[in-house]
Amino acid sequence: MVKEDIKRLVETKQARVGVIGLGYVGLPLAVEFARRGLRSVGFEVDTRKAESINRGESYIPDVPSDALASAVGDERLHATTDFDELSSCDAIIICVPTPLRKTKEPDISYILAASEEITKRLRHGQLVILESTTYPGTTDEVLLPMFEAKGLKLDQDFLLAFSPERVDPGNPQFHTDNIPKVVGGCTDDSTEIAALLYGQIVKEVHPVTSARVAEAAKLLENTFRAVNIGMANEMARLCYHLGIDTWEVIRAAATKPFGFMPFYPGPGIGGHCIPLDPHYLSWKARQHGFDSRFIGLAEEVNSRMPEHVVALVTDALNDDRKSLNGARVLVLGVAYKKDIDDVRESPALSIIDRLRAKGADVRYHDPFVPEVRFDDAHTVAGGEPLQNVPLTEEELRAADCCVIVTDHSGVNYGQVCALSKLIVDTRNALSRDLRRDSSAKIVRL
Ligand SMILES: NC(=O)c1ccc[n+]([C@@H]2O[C@H](COP(=O)([O-])OP(=O)(O)OC[C@H]3O[C@@H](n4cnc5c(N)ncnc54)[C@H](O)[C@@H]3O)[C@@H](O)[C@H]2O)c1
Repeated sequence: MVKEDIKRLVETKQARVGVIGLGYVGLPLAVEFARRGLRSVGFEVDTRKAESINRGESYIPDVPSDALASAVGDERLHATTDFDELSSCDAIIICVPTPLRKTKEPDISYILAASEEITKRLRHGQLVILESTTYPGTTDEVLLPMFEAKGLKLDQDFLLAFSPERVDPGNPQFHTDNIPKVVGGCTDDSTEIAALLYGQIVKEVHPVTSARVAEAAKLLENTFRAVNIGMANEMARLCYHLGIDTWEVIRAAATKPFGFMPFYPGPGIGGHCIPLDPHYLSWKARQHGFDSRFIGLAEEVNSRMPEHVVALVTDALNDDRKSLNGARVLVLGVAYKKDIDDVRESPALSIIDRLRAKGADVRYHDPFVPEVRFDDAHTVAGGEPLQNVPLTEEELRAADCCVIVTDHSGVNYGQVCALSKLIVDTRNALSRDLRRDSSAKIVRL
């Protein structure tokens, strides 16, 4: 029985684990398996990433190079672009991107490409797990038929499961090993063995009855965040019109010890998950004739926040008898959230583009991001790349307006308050004391 074969290999730590896609999700996972005594092989299409891993040099901030180097040095981990090595793996975990098409429909082409590589080498005795976030049904409806078309049978020859990734880049408290892992197999055997495998590296595994439940659970988690952030953003705009301090309102409401969970407004949502994942769910719902209205509404509210931030800057300059056209605007932070280097879907891109389209001279400072590039989807203003500028006294004094888009911890906000003329703070990054002592005019979201 395939179940017993893989079980024995996992329990004796002889199982070889292949991880396809070594990005924010895949690299920490591959390193964790190696750290726990299993042998892991990382598969990449990007040769530079594979070479960097094999030199023991990490390009993911949450993976320290010394942990990577020790796994590589102990011959517990190596990376390759040669997919033939898949046949030597007992478990294969797919961690490739799941973006959206321009039409906002799911683009599962990376999952298909990885699955085709697996299909070519699939053999008796392998467990395949999909971790990429995707719509409910992908594992059953897309992967399973591909693998079975090879003539191999689920449960007799191979096992197949879905287990969503929940990694939170830059979060110092939660890492791979202390984030509970949901696991749903296409069969009971698949669930059991996938859960056993993850049990080697995470403290808590939560098995569910099917891959679809696991796929839907991940989308519920991220849709929950998108909808609640949308609510907070709507509240911020509402409070702006009513002249009430949103942040004080949220702080007060959050003192309720039950039935309330604080979410905070911001310049818009970013990253590879929250802006994208709900579309996977609403797309699948539409296939079944169901219109998911909360998702649509959250998308509408959240995607208008960059426009609102630009309106705050324009109004604040106007109060000072200045126009945005020709103003020098310093954007503080371009990553989609604090203390990380990821600019995917960052609202900063849209804010910068809108400011430039209105004639502003935009510069940015972000200690994590040396350069930002604008793809066609993100620009109406020409899309010239921008380079990080150091946060000097001259830079702060020369800016007509500073816009805090990302509240990185390492920025000297005291200096920002002391030297700026005007600050638009979209993250409530400036403490009450800093605001009180500042000579700058401060506008908060
Ligand atoms: N980044 C997060 O915080 C996060 C959190 C939870 C879930 N997820 C989900 O995990 C998945 C991966 O996200 P990520 O942030 O790690 O993406 P990423 O872009 O950081 O990494 C993906 C890697 O896969 C590689 N790749 C692409 N096609 C490949 C192929 N056919 N074979 C081998 N490698 C291939 C890319 O070169 C890249 O290095 C997505 O579905 C995402 O939604 C991401």
